[in-house]
Amino acid sequence: MSDESHRVGSRTASRKPWGGRFRSDTDAAVERFTASIHFDRALARYDVRLSAAHARMLCEQKLLSPEDLEALLQGLERVGEEIEGGVLPLDPALEDVHMHVEARLRELVGEAAGRLHAGRSRNDQVATDLLLYLQDSVSAAQHGLHGLREVLLARAREHLDTVLPGYTHLQRAQPVRLAHHWLAFVEMFGRDAARFRDLSERLRAAAPLGSGALAGSTLPLDRQQTAEALGFVAPSANSMDAVASRDLALEFLSDCAIAGVHLSRLAEELVLWSSAEFGFVELADAYATGSSLMPQKKNPDVPELVRGKSGRSIGNLVTLLTVLKGLPLTYNRDLQEDKEPVFDSAATLRDSLEVMAGALATLRVDVPRMREAAGDSLLLATDLAELLVVEGVPFREAHEAVGQVVAHCLEAGRDLLELSHDELRAFHAAFPAGAGELLSLERALEARKLPGGTARTRVAAALDTAEQEIAAALATLDAGATR
Ligand code: ARG
Repeated sequence: MSDESHRVGSRTASRKPWGGRFRSDTDAAVERFTASIHFDRALARYDVRLSAAHARMLCEQKLLSPEDLEALLQGLERVGEEIEGGVLPLDPALEDVHMHVEARLRELVGEAAGRLHAGRSRNDQVATDLLLYLQDSVSAAQHGLHGLREVLLARAREHLDTVLPGYTHLQRAQPVRLAHHWLAFVEMFGRDAARFRDLSERLRAAAPLGSGALAGSTLPLDRQQTAEALGFVAPSANSMDAVASRDLALEFLSDCAIAGVHLSRLAEELVLWSSAEFGFVELADAYATGSSLMPQKKNPDVPELVRGKSGRSIGNLVTLLTVLKGLPLTYNRDLQEDKEPVFDSAATLRDSLEVMAGALATLRVDVPRMREAAGDSLLLATDLAELLVVEGVPFREAHEAVGQVVAHCLEAGRDLLELSHDELRAFHAAFPAGAGELLSLERALEARKLPGGTARTRVAAALDTAEQEIAAALATLDAGATR
């Protein structure tokens, strides 16, 4: 290497904050390969917040003059706006958001920018930024989930007396109220929101900042101060754990994946129910799409994509699990691969919740069609067997007798409800009356008055309970946000 290229290389390499020990340039492909600025700029606002807290603490610890602090705080605010507003040119040579913030700060405030990095590393910085990002994301996820629950609840209230078949194995099983069916999803999404709420506690428990690259710092940093300034309860207990761990990101991805799977089940029902074969519902025009070829088509692309995108959320969880598996302590650059899955799952969940809430709020329900499907009297066969149990017959014996009754109906083309007392008695002596006197769809719904059952009073009470629970959860969430 000539002296000339040596000097050029040296000058270029030293543009980087770590360039001091390097004598030649980074390969251009390596710069592109290692850069994360095109996605981690989403952390800019957190990096700026963190830097301001760190600068204030350095000043109190006499490691920064009040004048430098003032300049840094003003500069940081401006850098944050520039990155958020998309006006700061992004340069892959500067790798990531942390170096962009620092480099721009140097342009704005000069030498003071060089004092900011005292006692910190990008390793504790990025770990802290990510926790701050996740705190906002779990709050957004809870709002989105409760928003969807509110829509489901409102639609359920409208359809307290709408009856449809409940299914097992996608075969008609027993009649249920549509309200009861949708309240099942209100429960699932309620647990999903609770998972995010639980995670939010852990996300605030311990601030990595002050852990340095891995082993802390020789400088007299006040870690409690920066932790509290950023809304954490305390500084992290172990500097190596703090920079090496991403299990809270994993937990977030897992919570997103579970909610995504629940969304996919609800979405699948909208797809099925809007088919001509079911004909139970019709999506509003605003939530459906057409075919470029077949003029008659109205396609459920929105629920299909919600169903499909749950695959991403599952994939993102598996991605980060795989990145972390077998990784030695502490920080390794592999950890940079944590961010895109996290950002993608957060956005996917947010968008899926939004469009599902809209699709459900505007969904047209074909009440007579559901009722007709539920009117199949064989859906009452279990009730007939349970009537025999009340007469003292062992359930297995009752099941067998009613099974024979059903087989007879199917073979003879008879409706179960037509069978007289005498006809039933041919199958079991204990039948107390004719099927028409014993069974009806309304009776089947009302007879299930146990907690969690389909009786009107039970479902009406469940609607009220869910409404109160959602309101309380949202109030707690908003109180937490203003804390
Ligand atoms: N962009 C990096 C990441 O997201 C920041 C930490 C880089 N640290 C380092 N020593 N290279 O993981």
